[in-house]
Amino acid sequence: LAATDPHRPEFHFVTAGWLNDPNGLTFHEGLFHLFYQYNPYAPVHHKIHWGHAVSSDLLEWEELPIALTPGTGPDEDGCWSGVLVHHDGVPTIMYSGRKGGSELPCLAFGTPDLTQWRKHPDNPVISAPPADLDIIAFRDHCLWQEGDTWRQVIGSGVRGVGGAALLYESRDLRSWTYLGPLLTGNAETNKGTPLWTGTMWECIDVFPLGDAGSGQHHIMVFSAWDHGVTMHTLYWVGQMEGDRFIPEGLHRLDLGGRFFYAPQSMRDEAGRRLMFGWLQEGRSDAAQIAAGWSGVMSLPRLVTARPDGTLHQHPAPEVDRLRSRLLFDGDGSHLPTAELTGDQLDVELDVTLPPGATLEVKVRATPDNAEQTVYLLEHTTNGVRLSLDRSTSSLDPTVDTTPLSGSIPSSDGKVSLRILVDHSALESFANGVPLTARAYPTRHDALGIGLRQSAGQTTARVWSMNSTSRNTTAHTHRVSADLPRR
Ligand code: FRU
Repeated sequence: LAATDPHRPEFHFVTAGWLNDPNGLTFHEGLFHLFYQYNPYAPVHHKIHWGHAVSSDLLEWEELPIALTPGTGPDEDGCWSGVLVHHDGVPTIMYSGRKGGSELPCLAFGTPDLTQWRKHPDNPVISAPPADLDIIAFRDHCLWQEGDTWRQVIGSGVRGVGGAALLYESRDLRSWTYLGPLLTGNAETNKGTPLWTGTMWECIDVFPLGDAGSGQHHIMVFSAWDHGVTMHTLYWVGQMEGDRFIPEGLHRLDLGGRFFYAPQSMRDEAGRRLMFGWLQEGRSDAAQIAAGWSGVMSLPRLVTARPDGTLHQHPAPEVDRLRSRLLFDGDGSHLPTAELTGDQLDVELDVTLPPGATLEVKVRATPDNAEQTVYLLEHTTNGVRLSLDRSTSSLDPTVDTTPLSGSIPSSDGKVSLRILVDHSALESFANGVPLTARAYPTRHDALGIGLRQSAGQTTARVWSMNSTSRNTTAHTHRVSADLPRR
């Protein structure tokens, strides 16, 4: 494995082997705990474990021993996604044990420091999906407490209907009563569009947001899936009324679609809602195997509610601490394109875009533009749109170049646009709407950035970004070890 892999992010959490969903997000005794879907043996999705990392600042992550390993029982084919809660003071993981092509809910109990986990001898705790539903999948967990009662939502899909959030209730996490669907989707509505809710909902995450009382909404985030294909992440804004979720609106969580997938959120001690998601790869299986790693964990996102209940997402303020040198601060039309380079950058733009105007921002560009990844903001009669053109991101014809785009809330053409470049990981935020993607330029001089605006003005600040230490010393040390293969 190359210690100088040009696509490997330096300030995002990555690991050796395979990584997908964030799991069990918890703030506990001064540390953030991030568990994740993990195959330590090879960068392929197979026999999934729960990896475990901790951080005191959401930036520097220390990898701890694996938390869950597939056993000989109901999780012999994998320990799939789930959450961590405390019940009667006992740290408890609820996860999906996979065996023989399907999943069932399982428990594991942890030591107070959350590092060692003992599986419940009576797993699975729910032995089958509800018998009255013709279900195509049954997995992933969201838990919350109402008084003495635990409530749980399990992700599902009902044949001929669509995705479903199935609601359960328990006193002790061991014995569960099925209450019915909290919400179901319709697989015929919006089919083929960015708002299609698919045939199954993965990784449902339900939480209240906004001021308690009149300003409070409930949010239901889910990852829309269709016949084994991960599609995109959406959210409902609505209200919880007893055993039903009453939806008021459906929205895209991230304009990057599958590149910000299977997110999970948590509340920290200060009451902030923080979210992490999985940045899938946009390169071939062979390229992932050659690299020795697959999958990037997003930066922590701070999620707040706008007055209408829709989400405003932004990198958690902690991310600013990764800024190293301020490379430019001034009028964007004077950006010294030739000198401003980097594959670890934070670009912050305050844009004023009159009607009809456009702004192009290129990153990871070679001097001759043979490779370049281009963000486009357009103020059209339908409002402001952000798109990402990756058609010339890479001279490698095997990487994903799907165009990504969507609309940005902006009443007056003002847009605050932030673009974080970390090698192949690109996270951008326009007025609180993210667009996440991956890009894999082949040339070593694909480091340039540039800005072109047809009318209006932009103030720009550009910083170089530090690497987090785990990604340099600890990691190169670790991958040099001989990893067993499947
Ligand atoms: C989402 C997902 C979950 C599942 C896990 C398996 O990416 O498919 O539904 O629990 O990944 O790794």
